[in-house]
Amino acid sequence: MTVITVERLGRGAGAEILGVDRDRLMTDGTLPGAVMEALEAHGVLVFRDLGLDPETQVAFCRRLGDVDTSPGHHPVEGIYRVSLDTSKNSSAGYLRATFDWHIDGCTPADGAYPQKATMLTARAVADSGGETEFASTYAAYDDLTDRERERVAALRVVHSLEASQRLVTPDPTAEQLAAWRRRPVKEHPLVWTHRSGRRSLVLGASTDHVVGMPPDEGRALLGDLLGRCTAPERVYRHEWSVGETVIWDNRGVIHRAAPYDPASPREMLRTTVLGDEPIQ
Ligand code: OGA
Ligand code: MN
Repeated sequence: MTVITVERLGRGAGAEILGVDRDRLMTDGTLPGAVMEALEAHGVLVFRDLGLDPETQVAFCRRLGDVDTSPGHHPVEGIYRVSLDTSKNSSAGYLRATFDWHIDGCTPADGAYPQKATMLTARAVADSGGETEFASTYAAYDDLTDRERERVAALRVVHSLEASQRLVTPDPTAEQLAAWRRRPVKEHPLVWTHRSGRRSLVLGASTDHVVGMPPDEGRALLGDLLGRCTAPERVYRHEWSVGETVIWDNRGVIHRAAPYDPASPREMLRTTVLGDEPIQ
């Protein structure tokens, strides 16, 4: 039986996994199950001093599920290079939207489901800023009053890339706008009822409007829910050191990067474990 030692980090989300090294990631047959279980319980898991190489990162993620292998500005298949430096990632401009709270993959291109989990390993860190923050969207639902639960139960929300990009680029060029609008727009329920029976709120930068509600009222509702979900005492803020790896449950956690200088060397290597559950 695998023993993983899990130490809670934050009140609402976050735990550190102790006693796991690279070898164990590849050879311990019960580790993937134990990691997924800990992820379901804590939302975010931190592995310090792991020093994971890109190939091992992808190989371990493949033990958790199918991995996104779309091109990622990095030679290793399954790795996406997160950097604001356009010489390292020609699509870096889009990544400024990571400064706002979001769930990854709410507007997938091909009808895919939002990703199950995301893993980041720090290759280089920013001198200031660049922490990654996490908050539980399960807790956000659980903390609603009965009346609020009734109010949100049937609401549906339209999500778009345009909504999230407008927050960081409020005055787009016609070309930018056209590129954003080529991406799919998706409607999701505000309350996600998971296969496990748990419920979470689907919030974040990609929310454009609440269906059938005056825009101002919808924005106020979503803003209030997001503000409560991400109140400082509910946030786990990860301050990175090189060689650390973090994985989060994208189904029950919302995240954002604290702003950092685009000229900083900060570089994260990301692997995405694909989802198998629609937002429903
Ligand atoms: C991401 C993301 C946050 C960060 O890669 O999806 O949101 O801190 N990254 O770089
Ligand atoms: Mn993200």
